[in-house]
Amino acid sequence: MAKITKANSLGEWFDQRLNTTAFTKVMMTEYWIPKDINFLWAMGVVLAVTFKILVISGIFLLMYYKPDVNLAFDSVNYTIMQEVAYGWLFRHMHGVAASVIFLIIYIHMFTGIYYGSYKKGREMIWITGMLLFVTFSAAGFSGYMLPWGQMSYWAASVITNLFAGGSLEAWGLVEWIRGGFTVNDATLTRFFMLHVFLLPLAIIGIIAVHFYTLRIPHVNNQEADDIDFDAEAEKYLSGDKKNAKVIPFWPVFLSKDFAVLGVFFVFYFYLVFFHFNFAIDPVNFDPADSMKTPAHIYPEWYFLWSYETLRGPFFDMMGMKAADIGLIIFGMAQGIFLVFPFLDRDPDVLPAHKRPLFNIWFWLLLLDLIVLSVYGKLPPSGANAYVGFAATAVFLVLWILLPIITKIDAKRRGAL
Ligand code: HEM
Repeated sequence: MAKITKANSLGEWFDQRLNTTAFTKVMMTEYWIPKDINFLWAMGVVLAVTFKILVISGIFLLMYYKPDVNLAFDSVNYTIMQEVAYGWLFRHMHGVAASVIFLIIYIHMFTGIYYGSYKKGREMIWITGMLLFVTFSAAGFSGYMLPWGQMSYWAASVITNLFAGGSLEAWGLVEWIRGGFTVNDATLTRFFMLHVFLLPLAIIGIIAVHFYTLRIPHVNNQEADDIDFDAEAEKYLSGDKKNAKVIPFWPVFLSKDFAVLGVFFVFYFYLVFFHFNFAIDPVNFDPADSMKTPAHIYPEWYFLWSYETLRGPFFDMMGMKAADIGLIIFGMAQGIFLVFPFLDRDPDVLPAHKRPLFNIWFWLLLLDLIVLSVYGKLPPSGANAYVGFAATAVFLVLWILLPIITKIDAKRRGAL
């Protein structure tokens, strides 16, 4: 057993038993981050903090929420919003955090794409990140159902119905997911379980793995400089902080992150207090009614781009039904980002501004996702249907082109 002597402080007492000094060094004061990064590298910590806000506000909501089709709507709209002290605040904080976390996730993802942070040794960071995207999407979708308003019910019906598309119908998958032929009480209680237990548990586990995947390849930097972390850390520790290319995670990197977090909080609490309604559709303030279909059914803003790829192909092509084509493109849209590191055929880690064709590709993809999101909210009739179709086609073509253009960029640079 380790030698235990009389401790002179509480810190020393813990250190003898838990080796806290070594732990703090590995996790904080000697965990090295490149100096050449900008505010976009703070998004990971902003995400971690926003997730904590979701958990804490969710725990308060859970004390009064009732997962029962006859009670859910009132437990949210009357009990929590009107009777419980500050219940409205926790609902606003939860709803707004659930929406803005997707904005930050998209910024974080596109920062990674722009700077090539998913490549050569960083693939696992990317893959665990995408797993977080999927689990957060499932958490967003299951949470949207809980207030049991009109949009909760109808969005749940439409989305679960996707599992009855094409030959999936024969498998009885949609009935298995719903726990019945229609969205019902069993559906609400199982999505409640997913939302408050299984998904948060999975998210916490995946966040831990995501952080761990950063340890070996280290965080990327603005010019994708291949840093010798050991040599630079030695420079920093020997006092040459000015020339060292790295800074410690704590206190230097985190203090920068706290500044960005401060700005984020101003934006977040402004929405919580003054613009809560942007996070919840007005239609969802009507209780769920299976006999009354809303005029337009659409998901939350962060799912609109992929929803539009489903609706985009509105006419039959090459002997295939429009609905089946939409379903195939939608299915591809869900998985394609996961394999991004393997579709990019350029072996070098470089930011997009040093990869001419990829740079154009990056901005086109971003623009296309914005167009898809805008049209995903509009009714798919007249000119809207054609714009939606064109944007879906561009989305498909961009992914087909990715391996080709990344290879051309690399060849022109002499890397292939
Ligand atoms: C939602 C929960 C998430 C949390 C809490 C989180 C947290 C973090 C943190 C703290 C970092 C290091 C600092 C930074 O670059 O910001 C990081 C890096 C990274 N994350 Fe995430 N992340 C999340 C989701 C995602 C998603 C959805 C993706 C996209 C697939 C992703 C991809 C990456 C990549 C590629 C890096 C490396 C950046 C670099 O090396 O420069 N993360 N993440």
